[in-house]
Amino acid sequence: MVGKHKDLRERERERERDGVFPVIDMEKLNGEERGATMERIKDATECSFVENNQMLMNHGIPHELMDSVERMTKEHYKKCMEQRFKEMVASRGLEAVQSEINDLDWESTFFLRHLPVSDMSDIPDLEEDYRKAMKEFAGKIEKLAEELLDLLCENLGLEKGYLKKAFYGSKGPTFGTKVSNYPPCPRPELIKGLRAHTDAGGIILLFQDDKVSGLQLLKDGKWIDVPPMKYSIVINIGDQLEVITNGKYKSVMHRVIAQTDGNRMSIASFYNPGSDAIIYLHLHCWRKKINSSKQGATVRSHEGDGKCRQLGPDCHSMTALWKLPTDANKPD
Ligand SMILES: [Fe+2]
Repeated sequence: MVGKHKDLRERERERERDGVFPVIDMEKLNGEERGATMERIKDATECSFVENNQMLMNHGIPHELMDSVERMTKEHYKKCMEQRFKEMVASRGLEAVQSEINDLDWESTFFLRHLPVSDMSDIPDLEEDYRKAMKEFAGKIEKLAEELLDLLCENLGLEKGYLKKAFYGSKGPTFGTKVSNYPPCPRPELIKGLRAHTDAGGIILLFQDDKVSGLQLLKDGKWIDVPPMKYSIVINIGDQLEVITNGKYKSVMHRVIAQTDGNRMSIASFYNPGSDAIIYLHLHCWRKKINSSKQGATVRSHEGDGKCRQLGPDCHSMTALWKLPTDANKPD
């Protein structure tokens, strides 16, 4: 018991050191500190004080590649997107708004689909070197997402590969990248960069601007800033993982506040269930009290063998089946 209390105290101290957003050093998963690092991931994903967001460092994506992606994304915005955005602002009269705008985000975006079938070659205006860099970046993010899903399996006590299999459907996962710029906004109190939402899909890996902040998440009824950190990848959990884990991992409400100065870059990659995948609560995550706020109407569950089991009407309050909503694979 003494040892256990000491462990808990040490973990509390680590949480304090981490602050609100724990930084996970992925390199430590390969050495002697693997056990301690897994505990930190477990803490970060299960404890409400961090609300499931964490930042990864030493994640294996080369810094040179991240630098190239950032530079080319900003160049592409200047060359191909900025004028279009300004015209949209002028046509809607957004420079002079007097009341809150609720049907529009102050963002300029485009979306790249990588899986099940890439549409990269169909996206207009992408320079060849930018297309190539984004393809390489997406390949590394895909690998990292699958690695993270397996780490979550390990921490949940599920067999390796379970989550990847659960996301597979008939054609494999849906994986894509939303490339966004949030230009300077004259009235950020009236127009959000991106209105508050949870991500509908699986796991989201975000490469965000290291100088211009703006991402916030809702914690205990208050919006808190996600601080920019160079070369980090911010991890967010989507609704589908919340359902599979019965709310043990939570999909957190977040938003982007546009800034009056500076252009914020955001490259969010969504590793989501395939369009015909049906997502079920895993029995291992079953608790007496349902924690998930994303309950469906039908009550079924399955274990790692993939067979569905009807749990009976009396289990309705404890379990949930979540069918993929039609907008689950829309970029947020
Ligand atoms: Fe989002």
